[in-house]
Amino acid sequence: MAFSQAFLDELAARNPIEDVVGHYVALTRRGSNLFGLCPFHSEKTPSFSVAPDKGIYYCFGCHKGGGAVNFIMEVENLDYPDAVRFLAKQAGMEVPDDPEYRSAYKEQERLRNLCKDAARYFHQQLNGPEGQPGRDYLAKRGLSRATVTRFGLGFAPQGWSNLLDTMTKNGYTKEELLKVGLIQKSQKGSLHDRFHNRLMFPIIDVRGNVIGFGGRVMDDSKPKYLNSPESVIFNKRKNLFALNVAKKSKQGRLILTEGYMDAIALHQYGFDCAVASLGTALTEEHAQLLAKYTSQVVLTYDGDEAGQNATRRAIPMLEKAGLQVKILRMQGAKDPDEFLKKYGADKFRVLLDRSENQAEYRLLSLQNRFDLEQDDQRVAFLREAAELISTFGAPVQREVYGARAAEAAGVTPEAMKLEINRAFKRRKAQEQKRQTQADMNVEAQRQPREKELRYSNLRSARAEELLFAQLYKSPEHLQDLKLLPQQFSSPLLGKAFHMLQQQQESGQQPSLSAMAGELTADEMSHLSRVLSDNDLLVSEETMEQCAGVIRSEYQKSLLSGEDAVRNWKEQFKNKQRYGG
Ligand code: CTP
Ligand code: MN
Repeated sequence: MAFSQAFLDELAARNPIEDVVGHYVALTRRGSNLFGLCPFHSEKTPSFSVAPDKGIYYCFGCHKGGGAVNFIMEVENLDYPDAVRFLAKQAGMEVPDDPEYRSAYKEQERLRNLCKDAARYFHQQLNGPEGQPGRDYLAKRGLSRATVTRFGLGFAPQGWSNLLDTMTKNGYTKEELLKVGLIQKSQKGSLHDRFHNRLMFPIIDVRGNVIGFGGRVMDDSKPKYLNSPESVIFNKRKNLFALNVAKKSKQGRLILTEGYMDAIALHQYGFDCAVASLGTALTEEHAQLLAKYTSQVVLTYDGDEAGQNATRRAIPMLEKAGLQVKILRMQGAKDPDEFLKKYGADKFRVLLDRSENQAEYRLLSLQNRFDLEQDDQRVAFLREAAELISTFGAPVQREVYGARAAEAAGVTPEAMKLEINRAFKRRKAQEQKRQTQADMNVEAQRQPREKELRYSNLRSARAEELLFAQLYKSPEHLQDLKLLPQQFSSPLLGKAFHMLQQQQESGQQPSLSAMAGELTADEMSHLSRVLSDNDLLVSEETMEQCAGVIRSEYQKSLLSGEDAVRNWKEQFKNKQRYGG
């Protein structure tokens, strides 16, 4: 679809790049440009830039760039006309209609409207005569009317086609209802409502669109929650419950809970900055989303094993997104909802202000595993604590937490410091060793697979490989290089080089298959690999450098004695074999 230039100009004027991008990325100004974490690849330091004067964005990390429309195409996964529509809608502009164009965006808009209408329907049901069980349950859970309204809670009554009938009457198709999972097909092929006799929690994205639902039973039956399946408008990895409300909070942080009920209870008790994940583990996308609205996240996961594991997993992900992470530890209640009901908002606020940074959290978690009244357990604790503390980046951190662990176990800070230093050195040495091993593995990978072909001098062999591959492609350079086959450290590559020379002299094109007669199968496959690994053409200068490396390594090998002699003999032997 072609949009007029005037239309596109106005679209651009009404959608400054920094605003468009700013909806998705937290940007900081640096000079005339703005920087943030790239939404298209995972990174810790911002390499994503926005140039308002040029109307463009560019990522120095993944090299994606373009204007506002490109950005929306990329980030919302829309095609060009739909990205234009998307921006036009945001700017309140009329889009010239084209009946020919099958717009994915328009289809999605219909699905979002469908979900909104469904949410309205559920909400009406909650307030109507059918909604009594839902209202009773909410009252039992202590949710106020204001809370119910703020979150648009609803009720799906008994029955198999309440929603299906109502929504089709409102002009939506069965296909659309299926697409968002509000109805489903039975094995016999009949269609029926997904949710019945459940309390309905609409899931609303940051722009205020209803994109899915969670439905809770009102007794102990299973499953406790039934959720909308993922759909073209509902991605659990990218959305958080209640963020549409919490993003407006002035509390300077976001509280992350595990349950819808926890987030809702927190709001009711005045913590309007609570959000919940959607029954899935926290993702990097969630972390990035949170980072757009706050710089501090407080984790309030359950104290049970699963909750603690989730906490441990979430910390690095949130930190990677540049967030300051705090962990709130509750005693006497399993989750915020229960805690608030038992002890009230003030006590929760105390916990919130006391919430630990992750160093404290990890140290305390460790400490809780040991009985510090017993000597052997104290020793074990101190050893593990030293191990843990030695991983903390800053020396002051190691000092402070070392002293704390020492105090907990009743030893002197000096003794603890020694222990930490020992652990620190041991870990550094291990890391060093691992690194060396890794380096060696990389080197080993460059070695030919066959033992007999192993390179004795990797530095030279690299140059020989590259040079051979280059000369194979441009043999005219052979004469320019003052290099002899016996200067090659690898007998095989020296031999191959020599054969190239011969082919060149007899006016033949370089041909690996023509060498087959004089080479073993292993040698042939190794040379093929060398040719395909070094596919790029390099400059003559680089070739000259390769030759330089080969010559100097050869000189060194001559000076270093025995090895060189053996090598040289080997070369000589080869030379005789192919009669050079
Ligand atoms: N969840 C889910 N499906 C289930 C159970 C849980 O999707 N069968 C998700 C829901 O998002 C739920 C969250 O996991 O909110 C946490 O579960 P839980 O603590 O059991 O639920 P709460 O929201 O705390 O509900 P309640 O207090 O009513 O038990
Ligand atoms: Mn709960």
